Amino acid sequence: MKFSALVFGLATLAALPTAFADSPVVIKFSHVVATDTPKGKAADFFAKRAAELTGNKVKVEVYPNSQLYKDKEEMEALQLGAVQMLAPSLAKFGPIGVKEFEAFDLPFIFDNYEELHKITSGPVGKNLFKKLESKGIVGLAFWDNGFKAFSANSPVKQSGDLKGKKLRVQSSKVLEEQMRTLGALPQSMAFSEVYQALQTGVVDGTENPPSNFYTQKMHEVQKYLSLTDHGYLGYAVITNRKFWEGLPADVRGKLDQAMKEATDYANKIAREENEAAVQAVKKSGKTEVYVPTKEERLAFKKALVPVHQKMESRIGKETLQEIYKETNFDPSKL
Ligand code: LMR
Repeated sequence: MKFSALVFGLATLAALPTAFADSPVVIKFSHVVATDTPKGKAADFFAKRAAELTGNKVKVEVYPNSQLYKDKEEMEALQLGAVQMLAPSLAKFGPIGVKEFEAFDLPFIFDNYEELHKITSGPVGKNLFKKLESKGIVGLAFWDNGFKAFSANSPVKQSGDLKGKKLRVQSSKVLEEQMRTLGALPQSMAFSEVYQALQTGVVDGTENPPSNFYTQKMHEVQKYLSLTDHGYLGYAVITNRKFWEGLPADVRGKLDQAMKEATDYANKIAREENEAAVQAVKKSGKTEVYVPTKEERLAFKKALVPVHQKMESRIGKETLQEIYKETNFDPSKL
């Protein structure tokens, strides 16, 4: 046998999850945020419980902070089987052709976590996961982060305050439309590039939940943070379908249990983590935190809800109507 064929053969064997009974199944779990965030902590929690519940038959290696891959690359790596698990934000599924996920990016679509959970734990959430199957992906869970705040180097109190500004967005057409509706110029880029883009003035501002803002040290390069809560950012934990279906049923069952516990944990800490991040930003003294008045928030809502109508054909009328029904939202009654 030629040497190259031997190397290829060995590499193929190593890629099989159950090839050797004694060596643990390795799950590479890649993500783009800091360890000290709702997603970072939940990924570490999952790794710990997966080892405990399987008696170390499974080893979850967590790679945080875009150490292995940036947003777009990690999706490709998962589909190719180079990593086995990710938890991309829901905004990052449009580029792989599952545009319905962008419903979560619509401004003011949820008023609170309770409304959101009606969707993620109901039929809409199930249907969204079904749509991933043809992409070679299995959806395992939805993990919370939180509600987004706008940041910039000038105060953001009213919807007009972001006019003409270059604002970084995640890779979502809905978020681009949201920024254009405010008269701003959206700039889509990977999460790992945001700090530098803010620092060098490539963009003027951005949006993120406070936990991401603080742990990426954006308070060092942004003077104002406005707690508008104008949209939601959360995650879908996903795995490579071939890998998942190739696992022995008992191992998969234990990983399901570990994921369930990690999901409860993630959703329990998300709110606290974001509140703590707001306090930490205030304490830093570098960024002024502003809480919009009820009237100012309503003005943002009135300015931004027309984005729903504009993006309806992209997201799908049916998905949108189902969400409105569950959350009792009628955009015409603002
Ligand atoms: C972002 O790109 O802003 C977020 O999706 C990062 C994350 O994973 O929370």
